[in-house]
Amino acid sequence: MGTSNSAPAAPTLTVRVDAPGAAINSTQWGVFFEDINFGGDGGLHAEWVKNRSFEFPDPWMGWKATAATGAQWAVRQEDPASPGNPRYVRLTANAGGLTATTSGAAARLVNEGFRGVGVRAGETYDFRVLARQSERGAWTLRVRLRGETGAELAVASLDGFTGAWREHTVRLRAHGTDAHAHLEVELLGVGFLDLDMVSLYPTKTWKGRPRGMRADLVQWLADLRPGFVRFPGGCIVEGKVLDTRYQWKTTIGAPADRRLIVNRWNDEFRHRPAPDYYQSFGVGFFEFFQLCDDLGAAPVPILNCGMACQFNSGQLADLDALDPYLQDALDLVEFANGPVDSPWGARRAALGHPRPFGMRHLGIGNEQWGPQYLERYARFAKVLKVKYPELQLIGSAGPGPEDDKFQFLWPRLRDLGTDLIDEHCYAPAEWFLRQTHRYDGYDRNGPKIFMGEYAVQSVRTGSPENRNTWGCALAEAAYMTGLERNAAVVTMSSYAPLFAHVDAWQWTPNLIWFDNLHSYATPSYHVQRLFARNRGERVLPVELAGLSDRVYATAASDRGGRDVVLKVVNATSAEAEFDIHLAGARRVNSRVQVITLGSAGLEDENSLDQPARVAPRESEGRNGAARFTQRFAANSLTILRLGARGEE
Ligand code: AHR
Repeated sequence: MGTSNSAPAAPTLTVRVDAPGAAINSTQWGVFFEDINFGGDGGLHAEWVKNRSFEFPDPWMGWKATAATGAQWAVRQEDPASPGNPRYVRLTANAGGLTATTSGAAARLVNEGFRGVGVRAGETYDFRVLARQSERGAWTLRVRLRGETGAELAVASLDGFTGAWREHTVRLRAHGTDAHAHLEVELLGVGFLDLDMVSLYPTKTWKGRPRGMRADLVQWLADLRPGFVRFPGGCIVEGKVLDTRYQWKTTIGAPADRRLIVNRWNDEFRHRPAPDYYQSFGVGFFEFFQLCDDLGAAPVPILNCGMACQFNSGQLADLDALDPYLQDALDLVEFANGPVDSPWGARRAALGHPRPFGMRHLGIGNEQWGPQYLERYARFAKVLKVKYPELQLIGSAGPGPEDDKFQFLWPRLRDLGTDLIDEHCYAPAEWFLRQTHRYDGYDRNGPKIFMGEYAVQSVRTGSPENRNTWGCALAEAAYMTGLERNAAVVTMSSYAPLFAHVDAWQWTPNLIWFDNLHSYATPSYHVQRLFARNRGERVLPVELAGLSDRVYATAASDRGGRDVVLKVVNATSAEAEFDIHLAGARRVNSRVQVITLGSAGLEDENSLDQPARVAPRESEGRNGAARFTQRFAANSLTILRLGARGEE
């Protein structure tokens, strides 16, 4: 970095330090969570046992159950542990008729996990099971974790069963590591033994919570510092048919009572079928609110509005049958914000959170369109605004950012007084680069914009060939300069989707990828993180003179006007050097923090093997002047944080 006192030779980037504009909302940069790509079950939800309550249509999916001669397995529903998930398995072993296996066990149950079970040497795992046994039974369970090739990684025993359903638990300590391990349970005894909710979690979860979330995955979110979490989607809100829509009330309370349903991504893509994809709701609405609390992020729930996914059945709840949907919405507000002596506030308190969650936003439908949507939106808005006028309602502008559906919905949602319009965009890099001025002309007095789902598609939407390249992330960064400059109208935005299992995904690209033991952040993640962590408080006007039209910039004041945060995207293939002019700066500190994100090739990606190929680099420079020259690497995002105050 050099300084110059001479008149600026073009090109120049001028930041009007003395003319702070719109406030940048704390919700400017958030995250979008959906249980897609095994991002929930098999991902964020740290449970390792798939089909733990035998409720999949094939009750044995994910399991191998063998029995010695004289012993027999049966799936039953009579007198279940939980009426919500009624199935359980019974092993009956007749005394005398039993030919013991070499281990003396009457039977063996093996669960394959989610493309395996992730086991790490030195860590502990909590096995739980709901069980009851026949009168005078004396059953023992020998619980093992075995590696892919059968090597024992951990073992523990469990007994003390009675004639009543009760949860039993034992902790295993692993002495080996394997991303594709499996859980094996040997059953020793005679009579019968009933088993349900067979479960295995690592002890080390996010914040050490029993039955908690995968710590490494939440850590990525914590590091990003999102302003909000959108939850639970995504099309998953809608379901392929209304019966399998997401219903928040079935996702709270005792895990065994949370009614399992099919995951709508189960067979969505013929090229990526996932017949074993179901929703156990181990991460349900309470956990979602709790996560937002942990992250200091605003909760942004999206609810079904009586419409199933319009890419599937498009099934509609009649307008005169919307009451249950409306009631769910009203009750959710009370669950999140109501006093502890209100019925749903009391439920929240009983679950361990008497303090309200402070929910300020609610999405009505996910990615809906057409006149039927508007009718339903209007009904929801009317009911919700009467009771909760301060609640910010989010309406959908459909799946694309400029198609007929969008053109039809947008003005009508505005006329309905929608607080925030949810725009979605999955498009090529060039679209995002072209649209950096998209919001410059949006009416500042109209609805606010929630750019609720977006991501550059390197091939095309829905293609399994899409990749998370640096080129994609760079175009997103360029686009995000336009979102920040227009913070007066775009008050929320989130990349989508969030998580993907490398062995079990349906949709690509995604922000964070993981296997059963490791995870890595994509270049797009780093862009999101850098913007979120350098959000700033007020937009500062930026003028570009004599620069390539593939250079994009935004600036903000921060720390009560003491800092200027400048974000520059150089999307040209050559290094750019230009003057920076901090116009109206009263005092400029000499220290400058410089963060750069870039890579030699636009095709470069991160991976499990090379997780930090594209990662930010931070350095400190010297400045001290209101005018200086700065170099910006080819195809890079640079963030400069300078101590500079504007004239008063
Ligand atoms: O992010 C993946 C999907 O894309 C979302 O579920 C849906 O809202 C959109 O079509």
